Amino acid sequence: MPFPKDFLWGAATSAVQIEGAWQEDGKAPSIWDVAAHRILNRDNCHVTCDHYHRYREDIALMKELGLPSYRFSVSWPRIMPEPGRINEAGLAFYRDLVTELTSAGIEPVVTLYHWDLPLWAEEIGGWRSAEVTDWFLEYAKHVIDALSDRVRCWITLNEPQVFIMQAYVQGAFAPFQHKISKTRTYVHNMLLAHGKCVSLLRERAKLPPAVGIAMAASVYVPETEDPDSLARAEKRSFHSLFGEIQNAMYSDPIFLGRASRLMNGKLKEEDLAIISAPLDFIGVNVYRPLNPWFRPISYRREKHPRTLMKWPVDPRCLYWTIRLFHERYHLPVMVTENGMASADTVSEDGRVHDPERCAFLDGFIGQMERAVEEGIPVKGYMHWALLDNLEWCWGFKPRFGLIHVDFETQKRTVKDSGYHYAELIREKTRG
Ligand code: FCB
Repeated sequence: MPFPKDFLWGAATSAVQIEGAWQEDGKAPSIWDVAAHRILNRDNCHVTCDHYHRYREDIALMKELGLPSYRFSVSWPRIMPEPGRINEAGLAFYRDLVTELTSAGIEPVVTLYHWDLPLWAEEIGGWRSAEVTDWFLEYAKHVIDALSDRVRCWITLNEPQVFIMQAYVQGAFAPFQHKISKTRTYVHNMLLAHGKCVSLLRERAKLPPAVGIAMAASVYVPETEDPDSLARAEKRSFHSLFGEIQNAMYSDPIFLGRASRLMNGKLKEEDLAIISAPLDFIGVNVYRPLNPWFRPISYRREKHPRTLMKWPVDPRCLYWTIRLFHERYHLPVMVTENGMASADTVSEDGRVHDPERCAFLDGFIGQMERAVEEGIPVKGYMHWALLDNLEWCWGFKPRFGLIHVDFETQKRTVKDSGYHYAELIREKTRG
């Protein structure tokens, strides 16, 4: 039985994607609350899974499945509806959520920023303003004070690279900006926000915290396992232009205290000292390899099935991401997201049959197991997602959940993959 006893098996969500209650109990709008015009079918996040009102039911389902942990994010505009003003009702929601989780024996894993910038923060400059970083830290301080007597595991930011590239460079995610010339300023501010947040957690948390960051970590899967192929995969993953934009530009300052080529000159020594505050783990969100993006010919695309998002399913990318990130950064790794989208429906027998997701779980967990067997310290695996939810600009169409949600009636139905994952967890922890 290779998995360590304290391995965190779980599932993940984020506030925008599941909570709803967008205007309730003093919450202010986030940049996603006003994004419906850019979301498929004009879907929005105003109700989504209504988890804000149904979290007890959702936690009961997690308990029934035997999920030992749950990764969720806290909504900044729910806690700080105006610069500096703290909304007690917002904090109370997360206190109750954590109470419910811990009473069910489920370990909470908290993300402090999963892309829901308060609209007021965007209006005063968003992540290109240093003032916004200060408000983020003030918000984080209140969350840490409220939850750290029971929460041990913290994630500062979710996928800074996706957030910056999609939101501020490509203009494909809220707040839909094209500020290419400011990219390095965004990166600089977000990296500083991360580093300062790590120090804040170390100073203030009541329970000794385990702190990490969730990176959109994709690497190249080597063609073969001979040393030349491995060296090429490593080089492309961190040193090619694409590898830098995807990985090194963010990860090198955080985990090595070193600016990558693209950030050279922007990050001063004193910045790097803040940004590289020591971490307990690297969170990797892994969905697909980098290969098909850049080298479609050498990577035999046709060999791999595709998900509803058209992402190729190649489980080896999980092993290689864990391995290459661990080899480069020498930290334990936690798989903070991994999953796939499909168009699941409830069948006449009342069940949701999603054999592709069951196979996906077998394949990816098998590859993670390989890393564990080889002695790489892997701390946990959070399947994305617990529930079907609003997949950002793709709306409700892609279903990522282990639990199906009927968005008309809010009825939850555990999918076959939910039961399958529960069984896998039992099997891997037996012994
Ligand atoms: C990741 C996001 C997460 C979810 C998955 C499918 O990039 O962190 O919120 O949307 O993709």
